[in-house]
Amino acid sequence: MATNATWYTNGKGKNVKVLVCKDYETLSKRAAGILAAVVNGKTDPILGLATGSSPVGTYKELIRMNEEGTLDFSKVRTWNLDEYYPLAPENDQSYHYFMNCNLFDHVNIDKNNVHVPDGNAADIEQAGADYEAQLDEIGGVDIQLLGIGNNGHIGFNEPTDVFVGPTHVVQLTESTIQANARFFEKIEDVPTQAISMGIGSIMKAKKILLVANGAGKADAIAKTLEGPITPFVPASILQLHQDVTIIIDEAAAANLKEYKPEA
Ligand code: F6R
Repeated sequence: MATNATWYTNGKGKNVKVLVCKDYETLSKRAAGILAAVVNGKTDPILGLATGSSPVGTYKELIRMNEEGTLDFSKVRTWNLDEYYPLAPENDQSYHYFMNCNLFDHVNIDKNNVHVPDGNAADIEQAGADYEAQLDEIGGVDIQLLGIGNNGHIGFNEPTDVFVGPTHVVQLTESTIQANARFFEKIEDVPTQAISMGIGSIMKAKKILLVANGAGKADAIAKTLEGPITPFVPASILQLHQDVTIIIDEAAAANLKEYKPEA
């Protein structure tokens, strides 16, 4: 029987589950289903959220569920991964603005329960420390939604020779600036710094859900799942997390060698 989504396994650990979907719509629906199950399963659900193009379909599906009355955001609290620095939340290129447009403005969430790193803070180092303290206070988010960069970055944790733990200020690489330039009028307008959850902040999440689609992600996905754990492929650290689900389309799965459809 033809199916739109197939679980893949490498026959080793069960901590990383991989679901390969026929198309972006299926991927988005499956990802939204996992997030909705967390929200519906708790009285005080906490979501870690991401920006970028990958989760947009997932957010559309969450909005649809909210509209049809099967998903209630009134008790949901959220912490986003990252924000450009310096950039005000009202700026239409900010990640705060993106989240309002793509999710928060369309669901019954209390905006007081929304947290995005402060890209406008006078003391950005302190803002990072405060954000990390909040994550500690809540004991980590219940589920962290992630996209992945073509170079394997998660959040704004770019490939480098060390894993940086807490929320911190990052210098964006040339390739990330180039990739993000499509959202700005000209490349000079792309901020060169950001404030981002660190690898340690992300790993505090109780569950992790990574979504990726398109051939441009195939190399990063293969290295994340099948390569060595190295800060040069930041997402490879996810191999060590206890509860990860990676939902990708066939194009993003194209370079996998060890992961095969489950028998
Ligand atoms: C966004 C973020 C980034 C993106 C990544 C993929 O909050 O932290 O790591 O997830 O750059 O971006 P897209 O989905 O646009 O390909």
